[in-house]
Order: sequence, then structure tokens, then C-alpha cells
Amino acid sequence: MLPLFDLKGKIAVVVDILRATSCMVTSLATGVEKVIPVSKVEEALAYQGRGPLIAGERGGAKLQGFDLGNSPFEHMNQVGKAIVMTTTNGTRAINDAAEAEEVIIGAFLNLSAIKEYLISKTEDVVVVCAGWKNLYSMEDTLFAGALVDALGSDWEMDDAALAASTLYRSVEGNILGFMQQASHVKRLSGLNAEKDLAFCFEHDKFETIPILREGGLYAHNTR
Ligand code: MLT
Repeated sequence: MLPLFDLKGKIAVVVDILRATSCMVTSLATGVEKVIPVSKVEEALAYQGRGPLIAGERGGAKLQGFDLGNSPFEHMNQVGKAIVMTTTNGTRAINDAAEAEEVIIGAFLNLSAIKEYLISKTEDVVVVCAGWKNLYSMEDTLFAGALVDALGSDWEMDDAALAASTLYRSVEGNILGFMQQASHVKRLSGLNAEKDLAFCFEHDKFETIPILREGGLYAHNTR
């Protein structure tokens, strides 16, 4: 619903649970120096052979000639590397959110760290759900609901936040079971991504928050 929101002066928490932002949190938490999100395949290819690893997918599948696809396990422990990344929706959502006061990257993997970070701030917050090709996606909305829930009733929320939180509460005991009906899980089912799916819904594995600065994502560690 991003076109409905003015991001100026606000903190944008960009989320693409399956799987772009889960990869970014994982890579920066396990030693990557920076992640450069680019919208187009050609922009990523322009970095080939110039140092950074190039990573990405289209339709969920790894791009030909790329070093990494979009499984968080491929992005783990690439210590000291820079990764240039292009994905169908996640990297575009980050670039679309660039007019916000601050852009940070969320996933279930760093949910509590995001909550603590936001509590220390005074700006309004918009959760930017990457979705799928401009359509709604369940997993990103569930993250938004989990974050609203974690922030608690002291925060003023709009109807979209209320809807997300109600959805999250109704399925939180069985997220993976519920997600079997979701479109992106069906899309990923032929791509051997079952392990990714379970990993991307793990809560609070990392305390790292990727923050966007001058076109690159860098790790902000909360402890
Ligand atoms: C995306 O950006 O659309 C996703 O991360 C796609 C995926 O990895 O399945």
C-alpha cells in the first residue's frame, strides 16, 4: 500500500520475508561488510568481476551467471564481502522507500532488535511490505503484525496496522502451517526452498539491523 503513504520524515522498515530481507539480515549478521540493493539485473551485472559477489533471483530462481541466489544459507558467513543484490520485489521496495528519513531492514530473524530500535526513536514508522509484483503478500503482512504486536498498545496504529496485528495473532501458533496456503510458498515449492521457509520464520536469531546509507546496507548491531 506504499503509494498511500508519505514516507518523508518517517522510518521505513522494509520487509520481504521470503526471502530478500531475510537474506540481508543473515548476511550482515554473519560478517558481510555491505549489501548494495539494485532494482535491475543489468545493474548487478555491471559489478561482475569488480570485487563484490552478485546475488539475486527472478521468479524465485537464481539468476544465470550470478554468484549467489536468494537462499539465506548462501548468504551466510560471507565474511568481509560486499554483495550486490537484485530480487523481484525486495530490492525494488528498498529503493522505492529511499525518500524516508531512515530505511531499515526487517525480518522475523531480527524482529526484537527492530522493536528495540524503534522504541528508541521518535519518528512515525511505516512497514513497507515488498509483496509480489505490487500485490499483497501474506508473509510480509504477518511480519508487520508481529512488529505491531511487539511494540504494544502504547503505540498509535492505523487500520492497516490493526488488521496486520489481528491476522498475526490469529495464526501465530502455526505460522508455517498457515503459510502453506500462501502464494509465494507455492511459488517456491519447486525450488527446494523448504529449509529457507522454516529459517525465514525463525524469530530473533540475530540482533543486527541493516540500515541504508548512501545506497548501501550496513550492519547496526543493537548489542
Ligand atoms: C523477492 O524479492 O521477490 C523475493 O525475495 C523472491 C524470493 O527470493 O523468493
